Amino acid sequence: MALNLDAIGRKIGPVTKEYGWKDAVLYALGVGAGFDELEFVYEKDLKVVPSFAIAVVFEFLSHIASGANINLAGILHGEQDLTMHAPLPVEGKLVTSGKITHMYDLGKDKGAVVVGESTTCDDKGRRLFSSTIRLMARLDGGFNGEASPKVKIGFPDRAPDFEIEDHPSADQPLIYRLSGDIFQLHVDPEFAKMAGFEKPIMHGLCTHGFACRALVKSLIPGEPERMHRLNCRFSRPLYPGDPVKIQIWKTQEGKAVWKVINAKTGETVINNGVFEYGDIPKDEIRFDGRVAIITGAGGGLGKAYALELARRGAKIVVNDLGGARDGSGEGSATPAQKVVDEITAAGGEAVANYDNVATPRGGENIVKTALDAFGTVDIVINNAGILRDKSFMKMEPEHWKAVLDVHLNGAYHVTKPAFAVMREKGYGRIIMTTSAAGLYGNFGQTNYSAAKMGLAGFMNTLKLEGKKYNILVNTVAPLAASRLTEDVLPEELLEKVKPEFVAPMVLFLASDRCEVSGRIYNAGMGCFNRAAVVTGPGTTLGDGTEEPAIEDIAANLSKIAAIKNGKEYFELNEAVADVINAFS
Ligand code: NAI
Repeated sequence: MALNLDAIGRKIGPVTKEYGWKDAVLYALGVGAGFDELEFVYEKDLKVVPSFAIAVVFEFLSHIASGANINLAGILHGEQDLTMHAPLPVEGKLVTSGKITHMYDLGKDKGAVVVGESTTCDDKGRRLFSSTIRLMARLDGGFNGEASPKVKIGFPDRAPDFEIEDHPSADQPLIYRLSGDIFQLHVDPEFAKMAGFEKPIMHGLCTHGFACRALVKSLIPGEPERMHRLNCRFSRPLYPGDPVKIQIWKTQEGKAVWKVINAKTGETVINNGVFEYGDIPKDEIRFDGRVAIITGAGGGLGKAYALELARRGAKIVVNDLGGARDGSGEGSATPAQKVVDEITAAGGEAVANYDNVATPRGGENIVKTALDAFGTVDIVINNAGILRDKSFMKMEPEHWKAVLDVHLNGAYHVTKPAFAVMREKGYGRIIMTTSAAGLYGNFGQTNYSAAKMGLAGFMNTLKLEGKKYNILVNTVAPLAASRLTEDVLPEELLEKVKPEFVAPMVLFLASDRCEVSGRIYNAGMGCFNRAAVVTGPGTTLGDGTEEPAIEDIAANLSKIAAIKNGKEYFELNEAVADVINAFS
């Protein structure tokens, strides 16, 4: 038996699960709730222990294990990251879809790590929670795979702010298993011995539930629906009956780190805990767990995108060369670093990158920065830009080339390595930045217009190549006050057209709520519309075998040029099919 490496990226689900209030109560009893937390066990004004979210989709988790072909004698829950997007109802129907994203190799003796990501919605399609699970496959290592990246949570150097003692009973797993995880390791003494344990062990997720109750009790008493994120690493098995201490350090408003100690042995059984809490805005479009690259994000529009994406949970690579408006000069780290500082000061995550998008090397480095810092790339916003305006007769090759290199080639250089990552993971959102100058024309900007319209062509084909991998490619034509437009737009307009008015459109296109691909949207000042290439119905001249005369064109030009009743094609084949059909 070996891990099935082909399962990486393959979609799992949708797996549906219906549950009632008694399931929520049974879970609460399984994780130690009782008379002193009546809200979790009494159907009157019942509330759900938030960690129930993971237990209730156990069947989906087991599909990850079976899809990866993990040897069950060596399987353990390694890490669990749960993000709530809306409070879990006390009963309902859940629909979970996801995939295995990675299989890491720890070596023959240590085993492997299988990572699965999923999103769970209610039956109306409303996102309820997302999960990332890391399963330890202790008997499946040594396949010469990639090593697992290590993440360590820093604990404050002081006594915990809260320490809650709890006493899982000697029979705890017998109740907990009725919530779905009926794996023999937690009930069958023979199986437990075969797997190398003295006796059946606690389910990691059962101890996790004890910790969740303690965190709620300490930080959001009586308001479990305000839990936003629960993340941890299971570091040692715990035997039923061993007492535990849940240690909690509040690190900032809305955030705490935590661990669970075996009070008998002093060993840490759950480590690296993170707990985030606060009001979960209803149906807010979030980017938790997503990694976004924004080029030219040291100022103007890119900065507005970066700040809002970070505020909504994305991890950001803030790229900016920091050069002059026409792209000249050595460049400076300051603009990108300042945006990173602003994001981190607000509690977000970001790294700066100062590479030049105009070179293939620069593009690769930008994507490498995302992979090194955050392990992946989900979103690319190609935004970096310069201007070298000249009327056409004064447009020298260096003006032409510099502008095409940053806008058009720059988008290619960054998108290419990012697309490889997105294809692998089966998810991506790419945004190109065009301009009204390209779409409609603007005196003195032939270089810029050509580059900006080139991006629309780039999108048209990339949307086809990305489709099967859930990579959506769209384009925005912004209108905003920035250093690029400070002497182009009238002063009274500059005060009104803030970059923040463009950001909602770009962020929507960057979100998992976006389902369109290949679209161009104008956005500015709160005005939004779509621009498209529309092909008119035209006319046929002759029978398709004889060449029409030039005079036929002249005589029929108004019919040929008519756009009324025109249509949009999604790809070249549709347009060619219409030509062929016109004569059939
Ligand atoms: P901006 O000048 O404030 O932002 C562009 C950023 O790109 C700058 O911070 C600059 O340092 C950076 N940059 C330039 N060359 C770079 C390179 N080679 N590598 C990495 N970074 C580089 O201007 P704004 O207005 O925010 O422009 C953003 C995008 O929006 C540009 O692509 C621009 O063409 C486009 N656009 C803007 C419009 C507007 O009304 N502001 C209108 C239409 C398009």
